Amino acid sequence: MEFSKNHLTRIKLADNVLFFTGAGISAESGISTFRGTDGIWNKLKPEELANFNAFLRNPDMVWEWYQLRRSIVEESKPNAGHYAIVDCESLFENVTVVTQNVDDLHNRAGSKKVLELHGNIVKNYCIKCKTRYDNLVVEDNKKVPKCSICGGLIRPDIVWFGEMLPQDVFDDAEKAAKKCDVCFVVGTSAVVFPAANIPIIAKQYGALVVEVNLTNTDISSLVDETLLGPAGEVLPKLIEAVRNFN
Ligand code: OAD
Repeated sequence: MEFSKNHLTRIKLADNVLFFTGAGISAESGISTFRGTDGIWNKLKPEELANFNAFLRNPDMVWEWYQLRRSIVEESKPNAGHYAIVDCESLFENVTVVTQNVDDLHNRAGSKKVLELHGNIVKNYCIKCKTRYDNLVVEDNKKVPKCSICGGLIRPDIVWFGEMLPQDVFDDAEKAAKKCDVCFVVGTSAVVFPAANIPIIAKQYGALVVEVNLTNTDISSLVDETLLGPAGEVLPKLIEAVRNFN
Protein backbone atom coordinates (compact mmCIF):
# COMPACT_ATOMS: atom_id res chain seq x y z
CA MET A 1 0.00 0.00 0.00
CA GLU A 2 1.37 3.42 -1.03
CA PHE A 3 1.01 6.40 1.29
CA SER A 4 1.46 10.03 0.26
CA LYS A 5 4.95 11.28 1.24
CA ASN A 6 3.51 14.70 1.97
CA HIS A 7 1.03 13.25 4.38
CA LEU A 8 3.57 10.94 6.00
CA THR A 9 5.75 14.00 6.66
CA ARG A 10 2.88 15.79 8.35
CA ILE A 11 1.93 12.71 10.36
CA LYS A 12 5.54 12.14 11.43
CA LEU A 13 5.77 15.71 12.74
CA ALA A 14 2.45 15.56 14.58
CA ASP A 15 2.25 15.90 18.37
CA ASN A 16 -1.52 15.66 18.80
CA VAL A 17 -3.30 12.87 16.99
CA LEU A 18 -7.00 12.14 17.10
CA PHE A 19 -8.76 8.97 15.97
CA PHE A 20 -12.47 9.37 15.29
CA THR A 21 -13.88 5.86 15.08
CA GLY A 22 -17.15 4.15 14.23
CA ALA A 23 -18.63 0.68 13.95
CA GLY A 24 -16.36 -0.26 11.02
CA ILE A 25 -13.29 -0.53 13.24
CA SER A 26 -15.04 -3.28 15.22
CA ALA A 27 -16.40 -5.11 12.17
CA GLU A 28 -13.29 -7.31 12.03
CA SER A 29 -13.95 -8.24 15.68
CA GLY A 30 -17.28 -9.70 14.58
CA ILE A 31 -19.54 -6.85 15.69
CA SER A 32 -22.10 -5.75 13.09
CA THR A 33 -22.11 -2.20 11.76
CA PHE A 34 -25.33 -0.16 11.73
CA ARG A 35 -25.60 0.73 8.04
CA GLY A 36 -24.64 -1.05 4.82
CA THR A 37 -25.92 -4.39 3.55
CA ASP A 38 -25.45 -6.32 6.81
CA GLY A 39 -26.11 -3.32 9.03
CA ILE A 40 -28.22 -3.68 12.19
CA TRP A 41 -30.59 -0.87 11.15
CA ASN A 42 -31.42 -2.78 7.94
CA LYS A 43 -32.88 -5.62 9.95
CA LEU A 44 -34.21 -3.89 13.05
CA LYS A 45 -35.92 -0.56 13.59
CA PRO A 46 -34.00 1.91 15.75
CA GLU A 47 -37.32 3.55 16.69
CA GLU A 48 -38.40 0.29 18.34
CA LEU A 49 -35.12 -0.39 20.13
CA ALA A 50 -32.79 2.52 20.51
CA ASN A 51 -34.92 5.24 22.01
CA PHE A 52 -36.29 6.09 25.45
CA ASN A 53 -40.00 5.83 24.56
CA ALA A 54 -39.48 2.35 23.12
CA PHE A 55 -37.79 1.40 26.40
CA LEU A 56 -40.71 2.75 28.45
CA ARG A 57 -43.22 0.99 26.15
CA ASN A 58 -41.45 -2.34 26.17
CA PRO A 59 -38.55 -2.37 28.65
CA ASP A 60 -38.13 -6.14 28.68
CA MET A 61 -37.78 -6.36 24.89
CA VAL A 62 -35.26 -3.50 24.70
CA TRP A 63 -33.29 -4.90 27.67
CA GLU A 64 -33.19 -8.35 26.09
CA TRP A 65 -31.85 -6.89 22.82
CA TYR A 66 -29.07 -5.07 24.68
CA GLN A 67 -28.25 -8.21 26.66
CA LEU A 68 -27.79 -10.00 23.33
CA ARG A 69 -25.54 -7.21 22.04
CA ARG A 70 -23.60 -7.33 25.31
CA SER A 71 -22.97 -11.05 24.92
CA ILE A 72 -21.66 -10.46 21.37
CA VAL A 73 -19.36 -7.72 22.65
CA GLU A 74 -18.16 -9.85 25.58
CA GLU A 75 -17.24 -12.69 23.23
CA SER A 76 -15.42 -10.40 20.81
CA LYS A 77 -11.83 -9.21 21.07
CA PRO A 78 -10.09 -6.03 19.92
CA ASN A 79 -8.52 -6.45 16.46
CA ALA A 80 -5.37 -5.22 14.72
CA GLY A 81 -7.03 -1.84 14.05
CA HIS A 82 -7.65 -1.18 17.75
CA TYR A 83 -4.10 -2.30 18.59
CA ALA A 84 -2.54 -0.11 15.88
CA ILE A 85 -4.15 2.89 17.60
CA VAL A 86 -2.63 1.79 20.92
CA ASP A 87 0.78 1.49 19.16
CA CYS A 88 0.49 5.11 18.12
CA GLU A 89 0.92 6.14 21.74
CA SER A 90 4.63 5.36 21.39
CA LEU A 91 4.89 7.56 18.27
CA PHE A 92 3.05 10.72 19.28
CA GLU A 93 2.95 12.89 22.38
CA ASN A 94 -0.82 12.88 22.67
CA VAL A 95 -3.27 10.36 21.20
CA THR A 96 -7.01 10.76 21.77
CA VAL A 97 -9.64 8.30 20.60
CA VAL A 98 -13.09 9.79 20.08
CA THR A 99 -15.42 6.90 19.42
CA GLN A 100 -19.06 6.50 18.53
CA ASN A 101 -18.79 2.83 19.49
CA VAL A 102 -20.27 1.52 22.71
CA ASP A 103 -18.42 -1.81 22.58
CA ASP A 104 -15.57 -0.95 24.98
CA LEU A 105 -12.98 -2.44 22.57
CA HIS A 106 -10.68 0.61 22.53
CA ASN A 107 -10.46 0.41 26.34
CA ARG A 108 -9.94 -3.34 26.24
CA ALA A 109 -7.17 -2.91 23.64
CA GLY A 110 -5.42 -0.55 26.04
CA SER A 111 -5.96 2.93 24.58
CA LYS A 112 -5.29 5.40 27.38
CA LYS A 113 -7.55 8.29 26.39
CA VAL A 114 -10.94 7.22 25.02
CA LEU A 115 -13.88 9.59 24.75
CA GLU A 116 -17.11 7.64 24.26
CA LEU A 117 -19.62 9.94 22.58
CA HIS A 118 -22.48 7.41 22.57
CA GLY A 119 -21.90 5.73 25.93
CA ASN A 120 -20.71 2.24 26.80
CA ILE A 121 -22.71 -0.97 26.66
CA VAL A 122 -21.14 -2.45 29.80
CA LYS A 123 -22.58 0.41 31.85
CA ASN A 124 -26.11 0.97 33.15
CA TYR A 125 -28.00 3.36 35.39
CA CYS A 126 -31.40 3.72 37.05
CA ILE A 127 -33.72 5.99 35.04
CA LYS A 128 -35.21 7.45 38.27
CA CYS A 129 -32.44 8.00 40.81
CA LYS A 130 -29.47 7.62 38.37
CA THR A 131 -27.68 5.07 40.60
CA ARG A 132 -25.03 3.35 38.49
CA TYR A 133 -25.11 -0.39 37.80
CA ASP A 134 -22.00 -1.02 35.70
CA ASN A 135 -21.08 -4.59 34.71
CA LEU A 136 -24.42 -5.77 36.06
CA VAL A 137 -24.96 -9.53 36.08
CA VAL A 138 -28.63 -10.59 35.94
CA GLU A 139 -30.25 -13.99 36.21
CA ASP A 140 -32.92 -13.44 33.58
CA ASN A 141 -31.79 -11.69 30.39
CA LYS A 142 -35.41 -11.30 29.28
CA LYS A 143 -36.49 -9.15 32.22
CA VAL A 144 -35.36 -5.59 32.79
CA PRO A 145 -33.76 -5.29 36.25
CA LYS A 146 -35.01 -2.76 38.81
CA CYS A 147 -33.02 -0.40 40.99
CA SER A 148 -32.43 -1.82 44.48
CA ILE A 149 -32.72 1.68 45.95
CA CYS A 150 -35.82 3.19 44.32
CA GLY A 151 -37.31 0.42 42.16
CA GLY A 152 -36.76 2.39 38.93
CA LEU A 153 -35.97 0.65 35.66
CA ILE A 154 -32.28 0.12 34.89
CA ARG A 155 -31.24 1.12 31.39
CA PRO A 156 -28.03 0.76 29.35
CA ASP A 157 -25.77 3.81 29.50
CA ILE A 158 -26.05 4.43 25.78
CA VAL A 159 -27.10 7.55 23.92
CA TRP A 160 -30.37 6.67 22.23
CA PHE A 161 -31.92 8.44 19.25
CA GLY A 162 -33.29 11.82 20.31
CA GLU A 163 -31.03 12.02 23.39
CA MET A 164 -28.24 14.48 24.08
CA LEU A 165 -24.62 13.37 23.99
CA PRO A 166 -22.83 13.64 27.36
CA GLN A 167 -21.85 17.32 27.27
CA ASP A 168 -18.54 16.99 29.12
CA VAL A 169 -17.39 14.18 26.80
CA PHE A 170 -18.42 16.12 23.69
CA ASP A 171 -16.66 19.25 24.98
CA ASP A 172 -13.43 17.28 25.49
CA ALA A 173 -13.78 15.75 22.01
CA GLU A 174 -14.30 19.20 20.49
CA LYS A 175 -11.20 20.51 22.29
CA ALA A 176 -9.15 17.55 21.01
CA ALA A 177 -10.45 18.18 17.47
CA LYS A 178 -9.44 21.84 17.61
CA LYS A 179 -5.99 20.97 18.92
CA CYS A 180 -5.04 17.96 16.82
CA ASP A 181 -2.45 18.06 14.03
CA VAL A 182 -3.79 14.90 12.40
CA CYS A 183 -7.26 13.35 12.55
CA PHE A 184 -7.88 9.79 11.36
CA VAL A 185 -11.53 9.02 10.57
CA VAL A 186 -11.87 5.25 10.82
CA GLY A 187 -14.80 2.98 9.95
CA THR A 188 -17.64 5.45 10.18
CA SER A 189 -20.30 6.50 7.70
CA ALA A 190 -20.02 9.95 9.36
CA VAL A 191 -23.73 10.62 9.02
CA VAL A 192 -24.75 10.77 12.69
CA PHE A 193 -24.54 14.25 14.17
CA PRO A 194 -23.38 15.88 16.36
CA ALA A 195 -20.67 13.18 16.55
CA ALA A 196 -19.76 13.61 12.87
CA ASN A 197 -18.87 17.25 13.56
CA ILE A 198 -15.64 16.14 15.23
CA PRO A 199 -13.59 15.50 12.03
CA ILE A 200 -15.19 18.56 10.40
CA ILE A 201 -13.98 20.71 13.32
CA ALA A 202 -10.51 19.12 13.06
CA LYS A 203 -10.37 20.07 9.38
CA GLN A 204 -11.62 23.60 10.04
CA TYR A 205 -8.85 24.07 12.62
CA GLY A 206 -6.15 23.01 10.19
CA ALA A 207 -5.58 19.31 10.88
CA LEU A 208 -4.63 16.84 8.19
CA VAL A 209 -7.66 14.55 7.96
CA VAL A 210 -7.17 10.98 6.70
CA GLU A 211 -10.08 8.59 6.32
CA VAL A 212 -9.82 4.78 6.53
CA ASN A 213 -12.88 2.95 5.25
CA LEU A 214 -13.98 0.17 2.91
CA THR A 215 -15.82 2.72 0.79
CA ASN A 216 -16.12 6.43 0.23
CA THR A 217 -18.49 8.14 2.67
CA ASP A 218 -20.26 11.45 3.23
CA ILE A 219 -17.03 12.90 4.60
CA SER A 220 -14.71 11.73 1.80
CA SER A 221 -15.05 14.99 -0.15
CA LEU A 222 -13.85 16.94 2.88
CA VAL A 223 -10.86 14.85 3.95
CA ASP A 224 -7.31 15.15 2.62
CA GLU A 225 -7.07 11.47 1.73
CA THR A 226 -9.22 8.34 1.86
CA LEU A 227 -7.39 5.05 2.33
CA LEU A 228 -9.65 2.28 1.10
CA GLY A 229 -9.46 -1.07 2.90
CA PRO A 230 -10.25 -2.81 6.18
CA ALA A 231 -9.08 -0.83 9.21
CA GLY A 232 -7.40 -3.93 10.67
CA GLU A 233 -5.11 -4.05 7.64
CA VAL A 234 -4.71 -0.39 6.68
CA LEU A 235 -3.98 1.04 10.16
CA PRO A 236 -1.08 -1.30 11.07
CA LYS A 237 0.50 -0.65 7.63
CA LEU A 238 0.04 3.08 7.97
CA ILE A 239 1.55 3.15 11.47
CA GLU A 240 4.48 1.04 10.27
CA ALA A 241 5.01 3.44 7.34
CA VAL A 242 5.02 6.41 9.74
CA ARG A 243 7.46 4.65 12.08
CA ASN A 244 9.87 3.91 9.21
CA PHE A 245 9.56 7.25 7.45
CA ASN A 246 12.60 9.55 7.54
P1 OAD B 1 -22.19 2.78 10.33
O1 OAD B 1 -22.74 1.41 10.35
O2 OAD B 1 -23.09 3.90 9.91
O3 OAD B 1 -20.92 2.85 9.36
C1 OAD B 1 -19.90 1.89 9.42
C2 OAD B 1 -18.82 2.29 8.43
O4 OAD B 1 -17.75 1.41 8.58
C3 OAD B 1 -19.26 2.26 6.96
O5 OAD B 1 -18.85 3.45 6.32
C4 OAD B 1 -18.49 1.05 6.39
O6 OAD B 1 -18.11 1.23 5.03
C5 OAD B 1 -17.27 1.04 7.29
N1 OAD B 1 -16.63 -0.27 7.47
C6 OAD B 1 -17.18 -1.50 7.59
N2 OAD B 1 -16.26 -2.45 7.82
C7 OAD B 1 -15.06 -1.81 7.85
C8 OAD B 1 -13.71 -2.24 8.05
N3 OAD B 1 -13.39 -3.51 8.29
N4 OAD B 1 -12.73 -1.29 8.02
C9 OAD B 1 -13.02 0.01 7.78
N5 OAD B 1 -14.28 0.48 7.58
C10 OAD B 1 -15.28 -0.42 7.62
O7 OAD B 1 -21.55 3.03 11.77
P2 OAD B 1 -21.21 4.42 12.50
O8 OAD B 1 -20.72 5.43 11.53
O9 OAD B 1 -20.37 4.09 13.66
O10 OAD B 1 -25.36 5.32 17.24
O11 OAD B 1 -22.66 4.84 13.01
C11 OAD B 1 -22.80 5.98 13.81
C12 OAD B 1 -23.85 5.78 14.86
O12 OAD B 1 -25.07 5.32 14.25
C13 OAD B 1 -23.52 4.68 15.86
O13 OAD B 1 -22.70 5.13 16.90
C14 OAD B 1 -24.89 4.29 16.37
C15 OAD B 1 -25.66 4.29 15.07
O14 OAD B 1 -27.02 4.53 15.19
C16 OAD B 1 -25.79 5.00 18.48
O15 OAD B 1 -25.83 3.88 18.90
C17 OAD B 1 -26.21 6.18 19.27
